[in-house]
Amino acid sequence: MTEQATENRTAIPVTARVSLRVNGVEHHLVVEPRMTLLDALREVIGLTGTKKGCDRGECGACTVHVDGRRVNACLTLAVMQDGHDVTTVEGLGTPENPHPVQRAFVANDALQCGFCTPGQVMAAAACIAEGNATAPHRIREWMSGNLCRCAAYPQIIAAIQEAAQADPVDPAHAR
Ligand code: FES
Ligand code: FES
Repeated sequence: MTEQATENRTAIPVTARVSLRVNGVEHHLVVEPRMTLLDALREVIGLTGTKKGCDRGECGACTVHVDGRRVNACLTLAVMQDGHDVTTVEGLGTPENPHPVQRAFVANDALQCGFCTPGQVMAAAACIAEGNATAPHRIREWMSGNLCRCAAYPQIIAAIQEAAQADPVDPAHAR
């Protein structure tokens, strides 16, 4: 290897500093530039509520909110979200004070194994806040990025309808 090639190789950064505000808490991380937001949340910060299903944008299990908008955390790099606000399912509600969507999922039995549920709940909260939960066919369309292998879709749609009626204004931010 030439000296120039060695210099070029060593010039590539292997880590990057990233600041994320996650569920209202500041985190200053040093991560590989190729690390996804999903892996940063789960493996570096330790918030494992956000699930890794496909890791390629097909299932929606990794849905979180970035600056109030839903995002597949497996499709964005942590470094791309430097300085941004991230909300995960852990920050949406608490066991004592669940978010309206979480309450409605429980009331409607909208899960079986529960693996897809954090992503469903985060996407549902965003769907309602966007004004896209006004009718079952719209909910189906705007929730189509979130798959459920247990096929709990009828209960999920019912739960979202119920949550939208309970708090139609902006439940995504009703923390
Ligand atoms: S894990 Fe991100 S879409 Fe499936
Ligand atoms: S409840 Fe099992 S994948 Fe949705």
